[in-house]
Amino acid sequence: MNYPTIKKSEHKITPNLPDYEEAYSNFDWEEMKKEIHYFEDGTLNAAYNALDKHKGTETENKTALIFIDTNNKEQTFNYGDLIKQTNQFANTLKSLEIKKGDRVFMFLPRIPELYISFLGTLKLGAIAGNLFAAFGKEALEDRLKDSKAKVLITTSELLERVNEVKDQLPHLKKIIVTDAAGSTPFKGTGGSIEPLSYHNLMSKASEEFECAHLDEDSPSYMLYTSGTTGKPKGVIHAHGDIVQQHLTSKWILDIKPEDIYWCTADPGWVTGVVYGIIGPWSNGTTQIVHGGRFDPDTWYSIIEKHKVSIWYTAPTAIRMLMTKPEILEKYDMSSIRYMASVGEPLNPEAIVWGKKHLNLPIHDNYWQTETGSIVIANYPSMDIKPGSMGKPFPGIEAAIIDPKGIELEPEQEGDIALKSIWPSRMKMIWGNEEKFKSYFREAKGPQGIQHWYLTGDKGKKDTDGYFWFIGRDDDVIKTAGERVGPFEVESALVAHPAIAEAGVIGKPDEMRGAIIKAFIKLNPGFEGSDTLKEEIQQFTKKQLAGHAYPREIEFREKLPKTRSGKIMRRVLKQEELGEDVGDISTMEEY
Ligand code: WTA
Repeated sequence: MNYPTIKKSEHKITPNLPDYEEAYSNFDWEEMKKEIHYFEDGTLNAAYNALDKHKGTETENKTALIFIDTNNKEQTFNYGDLIKQTNQFANTLKSLEIKKGDRVFMFLPRIPELYISFLGTLKLGAIAGNLFAAFGKEALEDRLKDSKAKVLITTSELLERVNEVKDQLPHLKKIIVTDAAGSTPFKGTGGSIEPLSYHNLMSKASEEFECAHLDEDSPSYMLYTSGTTGKPKGVIHAHGDIVQQHLTSKWILDIKPEDIYWCTADPGWVTGVVYGIIGPWSNGTTQIVHGGRFDPDTWYSIIEKHKVSIWYTAPTAIRMLMTKPEILEKYDMSSIRYMASVGEPLNPEAIVWGKKHLNLPIHDNYWQTETGSIVIANYPSMDIKPGSMGKPFPGIEAAIIDPKGIELEPEQEGDIALKSIWPSRMKMIWGNEEKFKSYFREAKGPQGIQHWYLTGDKGKKDTDGYFWFIGRDDDVIKTAGERVGPFEVESALVAHPAIAEAGVIGKPDEMRGAIIKAFIKLNPGFEGSDTLKEEIQQFTKKQLAGHAYPREIEFREKLPKTRSGKIMRRVLKQEELGEDVGDISTMEEY
């Protein structure tokens, strides 16, 4: 089906970026740095830009954060409050002898302390790392061990999971618990680290702090993300990312100080950091944070009550909302003036739904943990072709290339690649130079030597320069927008006593984009059954994460393997999709 283009004149707003084409052709990153506060010595600090630069302006007394907890109780913080509390947190870290470059990890649900500790860490110049509260034991241990995190901030509930792994973490020196009153003893304490009370520490800390003066390349935060092979890798970002974090928030999400902005993403993944903490506050807007889970009634009532004007969410959430039109009818959504979506392909039907039911187009945009900010987008000042991710951000050159790095003609399918440098590009992969290098391809083309950054995604560009996503070029699974590596799931599975071997794939799913499906060969003496499936699912959730368990399990006598013993996920996937498995002569079993 062909979906008609949505003309830009149909947008309700005067955008921050009035003319995309013009901006693209005249763009200069150096010029754009004027939007950012640099200290007199030429250094900067991303947290200073998110918060402290508003000190002494009218923004200081304006609401920065409206926090709605799991019971729909609300708490508000103005910019001044956040400036003081992040200062207290930075001072707390200092008092614990944490220094620039040390890793400080947050294992927290979406609560104000997460936002405060994150930015307080940046102020000091330490590296902040966020961990999904849904992470299980193994996921937690892998990340804390690899990063050699020195401090962990968590809640008393999550502390139980931390206690299971803390003895495996020789570098972890301090655990701070957000909801401990005074010096209450903690459950499961003992061992080398006595947990500290967040409130105790904060109450003793000064509200004054001078942000560390840092180079653009100084690390700011790190996030673990999945590839095809091996355990998740630590992607390192830097303070200089702020220019692109700020500008994409302004030009793509169209954030203005008078907006009520809601990004539904969790800071355990990159959208929740860049567009749920740093970018919006750098633009002086009011942000909503909802600590609870997805629920159509709750979500719509938040929008209605707080008159949310910009809503940034994920395709799976939109698809879920689309299945319940009767709920939408109960609410007044007229406050929303701009909608955007990220993380997985946004199907054209969702855009049509937005137009019909909210009288708004949904602006799809594309990026990755590694790119650090949106790199391809639909802009308010540009026509939308439903199903397309849009065009590259000014200052970014995107192309579709072949395996040799030669640019392909319009409409030809190939690798989505970016010219290899832009301000928010990852600075390194923690402790893995080889992996970092593997993202880049040097090519000799008609215009001489080109350096490409490879996204790992396949796509095409049309004759008008719009990019279209086709799929991953590797085995990475995107389920409900979350990025999951099959290897991580397979390792969690084989830790189960019944399982001899496991191969994991993403199986296409209308609602979630993909679901995780595991093919399992059992150890001798075990029988496949529904009860065992259920037990395996629970086991994986506990080890890994609530979202990273296989929703489907199939027991097999044998799994397809190469002669060197590697399970061939490609074959499992093709069989699942009923496709021709091609040449399988290199396979040993089968
Ligand atoms: C996918 C998320 C289609 C893609 C910000 C990419 C998308 C991976 C889109 C990165 C989109 C992201 N359309 N696919 N608009 N946006 N992706 O690191 O495969 O969690 O490589 O960052 O998500 O996922 P990550």
